[in-house]
This record gives sequence, structure tokens and C-alpha cells, in this order.
Amino acid sequence: MKVTGIPMPAMTLLQNLESRLAAALALTLGEAASATVTATADLRFGDYQTNAAMVLAKQRKTNPRALAQEIIDHLALDGLATADIAGPGFINFRILPQAYAARAAALLHDEKLGVPSVGAGQTVVIDFSAPNVAKPMHVGHIRSTIIGDALCRIARFLGFKVIADNHIGDWGTQFGMILHGWKTLLDHAALDADPIAELVRIYRVVNTAARNDSVVLAMCKNELLKLQAGDPENLTIWRQCIEVSKRGLQKIYDTLDVSFDYWLGESYYNDRLAGLVDEFLEKGIARESNGAICIFSDGSNNPQDDPFLVHKEDGWTDNPAIIRKADGGFLYATTDLATIRFRIDTWHADHIWYVVGTPQQLHFRQIFAAAARWGITGDFQHVAFGSILGEDRKLMKTRTGDNVQLSDVLAEAVERAAAIIAEKNPDMQGGEAAEIARIVGIGAVKFAELSQNRLTDYVFVWDRMLALHGDTAPYLQYSSVRIRSIFRKLDAPFDAGAAEITLNEEEEIHLARLHARFGELVPVLLDDFRPNLLANYLLELARAFHSFFEACPVLKSDEPVRSSRLALCALTARILTAGLGLLGIRCPERM
Ligand code: ARG
Repeated sequence: MKVTGIPMPAMTLLQNLESRLAAALALTLGEAASATVTATADLRFGDYQTNAAMVLAKQRKTNPRALAQEIIDHLALDGLATADIAGPGFINFRILPQAYAARAAALLHDEKLGVPSVGAGQTVVIDFSAPNVAKPMHVGHIRSTIIGDALCRIARFLGFKVIADNHIGDWGTQFGMILHGWKTLLDHAALDADPIAELVRIYRVVNTAARNDSVVLAMCKNELLKLQAGDPENLTIWRQCIEVSKRGLQKIYDTLDVSFDYWLGESYYNDRLAGLVDEFLEKGIARESNGAICIFSDGSNNPQDDPFLVHKEDGWTDNPAIIRKADGGFLYATTDLATIRFRIDTWHADHIWYVVGTPQQLHFRQIFAAAARWGITGDFQHVAFGSILGEDRKLMKTRTGDNVQLSDVLAEAVERAAAIIAEKNPDMQGGEAAEIARIVGIGAVKFAELSQNRLTDYVFVWDRMLALHGDTAPYLQYSSVRIRSIFRKLDAPFDAGAAEITLNEEEEIHLARLHARFGELVPVLLDDFRPNLLANYLLELARAFHSFFEACPVLKSDEPVRSSRLALCALTARILTAGLGLLGIRCPERM
């Protein structure tokens, strides 16, 4: 069947409807007008709808249903959809099966599966993970690492130039304690065997000692001052700490399949801080207060929106950002301001997204406001997230009350996945089984994270995230494996692109409907940084596939139905794999 007006692969059905609607509005109103079309929440009302008639009728004080009818009379929907009026004047669109078929055929030829390159020509810096050196990476950092990596992949797929920057905390007061510990209680053999663990051990011992003993505290402060003043011995030790910590972190990133373009930690900006503070003073953005240099409100905002004010019992009071302490030391805020300037000047970033927990919200509001006063413009977003809770719904801790370490969580995930795989496939061989366990275990942890609304606290439940028949990565991976196995039964390779697609059964139409939605969904993920919408979509796609596969015989059907259905299978597998890939999750060949 030939369809007129086949949408270009780059144009989604939604965009196609919108452009046809705009043409009809121009004819109806005698002037250019555009209106948005959205997917309906309930398929009983069709696939898409618009409230254009209601909005325009209100402006023009005419009857919305009558206007809707006029618009429909001018709508050229040939081959694409039917339209009808509902309720007070909604226009509902029902996409024709042949249009879904044409769309599926187009997607089979499109490397991007219908996802438009909305980010072309724009640079985004994504600041994520950013653990603190010589402190263990805990499960809180897992959220930043996993969400940040997913955002990198999504933005890249949308055509953005993405710079993934790991702004590690490699310069801070913790080094006073580490230096003191290094000089007094370092176990060199332990450092060789597991450097991060040994650094954490000395940090903990000194931290406890300093809390109870002002002499130890003073010694730590002295070590820190020497480091900041460039003492060669302390600098050498500091460099060694960074070196071994980075190596330990890299191992975790390798396990997680996460990578960065840069690791410009806090220390990278050290020699820009003094000049920055001078400039802020000179330009009147900051001023002295009790010996410290602070940024105060400039009164240009409503108090509610002013990050340099806070509401206390007796009204609004100052809540300044300190950029230099009275003792001359610089702060987290100073470094972040230098960092923003660098990213704009050097990388010409249009967007900077910071994937950092909710407790730092005020910090980022202050930084963004201060940057604006400094004349720096760009789209700066704090992509915040909540906490991870243990099964008891309290902050996740080990039995001894320590923070749970990320490396332990990942090791346990892989171990548990290995046990499940060994049970299901006792014949699978060592190397292959281990690799699949890694893909499944890590995938499960990532998906459990990414299928949540990032702002809510989420409860970490092993059995739930590894279930083969739940809302899990293993379920999606298993679905893709199942589709692959269909193709393994064929005698000859199947050319999906050459197949003619016809959709007759409801299950086929629904599957193709979801295929078409992929390209509409992916750009929306960045509107409010919600990879969970993609996670939910993939679950829906997998469920739609299983319903289709149950209702519609594939290999046992006669041609041309057989090829049409095989092509639907192939497209489903591609979208599942690509979608999981955007979440940083791989699909095994077998499982
Ligand atoms: N190192 C910080 C922490 O662990 C996170 C840094 C986030 N990035 C930034 N540019 N401030 O809390």
C-alpha cells in the first residue's frame, strides 16, 4: 500500500500532526498560528489531541466546538490520521494503522530510530559523580554517577556536544587529617594492597582522634596550611593520594561502564581563586564582613527568590555566600565560581548541568545567581536527587553503622546475578556466565535507580531489582534476548529493512505505536531530567512485545505477514537495546 505524505524519518508523527494542524489553523483563521499536540493519556480518546480550538475560541470569543469543526474541515490528514471533536472542543486524532506501518518502515531505515537531533550545535557540560578523594565513594555517589552518565548518553544521542567532567573533591580540609595520618600511622603494605581502604582508615582514625584532642586537631590544621602554602613534602604526599584514589575510582567506573572526558577536580582551580575574589571585590559583587569576603543580596530579587536571604522568625535576613574566609582560605563556592567561568570561557558551554544531591540546593542557587551578577550567561541547572534508603527505610548503612561503599554494592549485585544465572542456565560456561552476571547485576542496579523519580528517596531492595519478571533491567534484557532467539531460528539472515509492514491485529498496531513514540519521548527526557520516563517506556514496550508475541504467531505465519512481524520484532529489539543503552545498560546475547 502506498501512503501519501509519508513523514520523513526525522519528523515524528507528533511533529507531522502539528505541522498539518498549523496549516489548517492558517486557513481557518486567515493568519499564521501554531498549536501543540500531545499524546492522549487514554487511548480510548485516540492517540493524540489538541486543545487549540478551545484556546483560540476563548481568545476570539467564539464557540470552541464550532471552531474545532472548522479546523477539522481544513485539516489535510490524508493517510495519517482521522480527527474528531470531543467534550468542550478537544480535537482527538487517531493515527491510521497504515501510517504506523509507514512510520515503522521509516524507523527501520533510521539509525537514530526517529530521535531528532535537537541538541545539534549546542555544548553541554555535565558535572557528575565528583566524589571526594581519600573518602570512600558511598551509595549516595551512585545516584550522581548513574543519573549523570545516563544524561550524557541521552544528550549525545540528541546531538549535543557533551563534556563529562568529574569535578572530584581533591582539595579540602580532609587533607589536613590525611597528611597527619600519612606521616604518623601509614601502613605501607596496606597502602600497596588497597590504597583507598588504607587512606580511609587513616582518615577515620585521625578524624576520631582530632575530635577528642585539640593538639591533634591543631597538627592537622598545620599540615593543611603547609599544603596550601606549597610545602614540597606535603604536595608530594597529596599527589600520591590523588593518584591512588583516582586509580581506585577508575576501577569502579570501569565496572559501571562510565567514562569522563575530563577530571578537573577542585585543585585545578586553585590558582584562579585569589584573582577571582579580588575581581568580585572590585566589581562590588562581594564585600568584606567580619574579615571574610562575602556575596550579599543585591536586592534585585523578591526575597523568596533571593538565595542570599533567608527567612527567620524576625523576617528576612542575610544569608551570604562566603568566598574567602577571615583566615584567607577559599571555599567550595569560590572554586565553583572559578569552574563556571572556565567552562564558559574554555569550552563555550551553552548548558551546565550539575548532578548533585538535594542538600546542595542552596549552594547552587547562590552560585548561579553570583555567576549572573558576574556577567556569565548560560543555562545552569542543578539536577538534584534524593537519598537511597535501606530496606528498613532508613539511610542505607552497614551493620556497623558505616556508610555502605559503592564497590561493595556493585560486587554484591554481580554475585547475586551470577547465582540467578547459574540456577537458570546451569550449562553456561565460566567466562560467559561471569560476563553476563556483570551485565545483568550492574544493569539491575542502574535500572532500579533510573526507573525512580530522581527527587524521591528510593528503597534499595535486592530481590526486587533483580527479578526476571518485574519492572527490572533483567526483565528488559531477557525480553531482548528472547527476540534475538527468534532470529537465531531462521535459516538465512533477515533483512528487516526490505520487509513490507502491514498492521492488522490490535497488538501489532500497539507495538508500532510504541515504536513511533520513542523519537517523541527521548527529547522530553531532558526537559526536567527524567530518565525514569524512558525506563517506564521501555517496560511498556517490552510488555507490548510479549502481548504481541502471544497473540500473533511470527515464524508460523505465512508470507507476507511473517516478514512484517519479523520486522516488528527486529525494530522492538533495536529500540530496547538503544533505549537501555541510553540508560547505560547493556543487553547480553544470551541469559
Ligand atoms: N565533591 C562534592 C561532594 O561530594 C560534589 C561536587 C559537585 N560538583 C560541583 N561542581 N560542586 O559533595
